[in-house]
Amino acid sequence: MGNLHIYDDPSWSRKYNELDRQVHGLEGAPEWNALRTMLPDIQGANILDLGCGCGWVCRWAREKGAAKVLGIDLSESMLAKAAEFPDDPAITYARRNMEEDLQLPAAEFDVEFSSLALHYLVNLPGLFDQVYRSLKPGGVFVFDVIHPIRLATENPSWAEGVHRNEWPVDAYLVEGQRSLKWLGGNVQLQHRTIAGYLMLLIGAGFMLAAIEEWGADENQSKAFPYWIESGHCPVFVHFKVVKPKS
Ligand SMILES: C[S@@+](CC[C@H](N)C(=O)[O-])C[C@H]1O[C@@H](n2cnc3c(N)ncnc32)[C@H](O)[C@@H]1O
Repeated sequence: MGNLHIYDDPSWSRKYNELDRQVHGLEGAPEWNALRTMLPDIQGANILDLGCGCGWVCRWAREKGAAKVLGIDLSESMLAKAAEFPDDPAITYARRNMEEDLQLPAAEFDVEFSSLALHYLVNLPGLFDQVYRSLKPGGVFVFDVIHPIRLATENPSWAEGVHRNEWPVDAYLVEGQRSLKWLGGNVQLQHRTIAGYLMLLIGAGFMLAAIEEWGADENQSKAFPYWIESGHCPVFVHFKVVKPKS
């Protein structure tokens, strides 16, 4: 892989682009309905999507009346895919690394959002500081990441349990890098505990408004057989935090 971002690796991103969530957009992302209920009314709002991929949420936000949307992503190929959609002058896409060169103006955005991107960041405290600074007072930050119990183990695989298959969480308290075999590649992610995420958010100045541990329900498991394995085990965790008004 060298320094190439995995989303720009042609053979890996070809497989990524075959996932339901890339082919069908938000309709193909079973957690989206739960995640979007955490968002406030975005009519007239200025929105930032961190790790926007090909811009599904940027376009959704405009449909829901957002005044302006900035989508940031590191991947050239994801942004090239975003550019294939009909142009909307109120959406700007920018190629930036969230860990290095975000350069966000202070008190600019009403709502900041990120889906399934922040678990890639080593410097998450730095990103949370930037999000806090760039939100208007009273602004809302909603994001989700892979649930830590999915990333905790250093040996990921289902094992036969007494009542159902079990997923090991042996290294839950050991935060740091994990290598996940996914779509034929080794994807490098950062494992953090739930308390780890919460303490970073509190340290940045945020107030917790909601948290949800999301897993597919029975109907979603039927519609998305990929999720059937998840059983009663959460797949993602959704956070909603607020920058206090004063
Ligand atoms: C699983 S995709 C999710 C894309 C989009 N949020 C969605 O839900 O369709 C993760 C995205 O995070 C982006 N990403 C990962 N690390 C990044 C970084 N350091 N800076 C900016 N984007 C990053 C990837 O390029 C990829 O587009």
